[in-house]
Amino acid sequence: MAVKAEPSFCLGSLNVSVTLHDTNRKRLCKSLTEKGVGAGAIIVLQGGEETNRYCTDTALVFRQESYFHWTFGVLESGFYGAIDVDSGKSILFCPKLPEEYAIWMGVILPKSHFKEKYAVDEVHYVEEIADVLESMNPSMLLTLRGVNTDSGSTCQEAVFEGVHKFKVNNTLLHPHIMECRVIKTPQELEILRYTNKISSEAHMEIMRKIRPGMKEYEMESLFQHYCYSKGGCRHTSYTCICGSGKNGAVLHYGHAGAPNDKVINDGDMCLFDMGGEYYCYASDITCSFPVNGKFTNNQKIIYQAVYDASRAVMKEVKPGASWVEMHRLAERTILLVLKQHGLVQGDLDEMVKANIGALFMPHGLGHFMGLDVHDVGGYPEGTERMEKPGLKSLRTVRHLQAGMVLTIEPGCYFIQSVLEQAFNNETQAPFLCQQELQRFMNFGGVRIEDDVVVTSDGMELLTCVPRTINDIEAFMAKAREAE
Ligand code: GLY
Ligand code: MN
Ligand code: MN
Repeated sequence: MAVKAEPSFCLGSLNVSVTLHDTNRKRLCKSLTEKGVGAGAIIVLQGGEETNRYCTDTALVFRQESYFHWTFGVLESGFYGAIDVDSGKSILFCPKLPEEYAIWMGVILPKSHFKEKYAVDEVHYVEEIADVLESMNPSMLLTLRGVNTDSGSTCQEAVFEGVHKFKVNNTLLHPHIMECRVIKTPQELEILRYTNKISSEAHMEIMRKIRPGMKEYEMESLFQHYCYSKGGCRHTSYTCICGSGKNGAVLHYGHAGAPNDKVINDGDMCLFDMGGEYYCYASDITCSFPVNGKFTNNQKIIYQAVYDASRAVMKEVKPGASWVEMHRLAERTILLVLKQHGLVQGDLDEMVKANIGALFMPHGLGHFMGLDVHDVGGYPEGTERMEKPGLKSLRTVRHLQAGMVLTIEPGCYFIQSVLEQAFNNETQAPFLCQQELQRFMNFGGVRIEDDVVVTSDGMELLTCVPRTINDIEAFMAKAREAE
């Protein structure tokens, strides 16, 4: 007798079993039960809705809301989901689609299809939600309301017709589900390894194909094409940043007002920050290298400073390590190299006190990554953002735990407005070798961004691209040998 295959998702070459979500649901119920909360309660989540472009009927490609995806793995829009906390019973509510759907969108699939596809205990229509939940006689409904500490936005709490009939608690669930998302399961790690593999390959493809005279957006296009055609990554996890030359100093370059549209000139340093997304799981990788494959002396100085910072941090990553200390370590490492090359001067401790590090690295060292590129959980209750420049940009101040996935992304940038202000600041100016720094005003920047998992005694590096100056030069030279 043929064995029926487990329901799974597969667009590229990685098969993801939907048991991933069953595990997540169980972890969530366990987390609530262990804290002695939620007895007799039902968790109710609302999935994402498809939206159109402004007032038109042109639909934007739907991508599921991340909490809903984590819990149920439903790819379609307009669903609700429920979990009985005590028994773990899972229920999906699918929209009842109009007959017209069959003409424009394809066959209307029955509830049994979704029950099998998502391996849940029951499926009903959305319009039945209040009746179904009432029949279960819950002590209360747990809905999801909480602030995303990166965006400041509040997540969409489930609302449906008849919700007023229930006792609803909208605060209990958020810290639990958020914390579950911070620690990745083995199945989630497998997907993150995959997104990193595909995205690393895409970055290497760019290093092979790039030539002076090409436009930055050609590299964006090449990256997207590689990730989608070779890896089944329909989305990237954020807007592609393809800065060359001076644009490398614009931290989130690539937006509509600066759409990766410059010609990449011979001698330019490139800073390409791009990540593919598979099954809603992100990657976030930055490669910095000279377009012509050969570092100048100035490029070597800055690249080496950032590389040293990256590797110094990687050596220290393990459970218990403080992310704030990791940020400080990166900052000091960069300042030390800048000092050795006469770009800054004075005592390192005094420099740190005067916030000189943040002049060159205004962003945080890195962030949690998972379903969202800037993943949730950076500031749980009881933690607070720090106030100092650089440190205030950190997306988490937590101590590391095994199973956390983070980016390590030190950078060194020459941002004219920042440096000019510092030259006129009497506390900071004495540390800055202005004449030397003027040489770098059109340099742009270097960022080295890798994704890592914290393990029980260190870390696992997910990203795999040439990283040392020698490796990059050798890799790029090889790709040009045939010419
Ligand atoms: N790509 C945005 C970041 O590195 O956080
Ligand atoms: Mn990042
Ligand atoms: Mn990035």
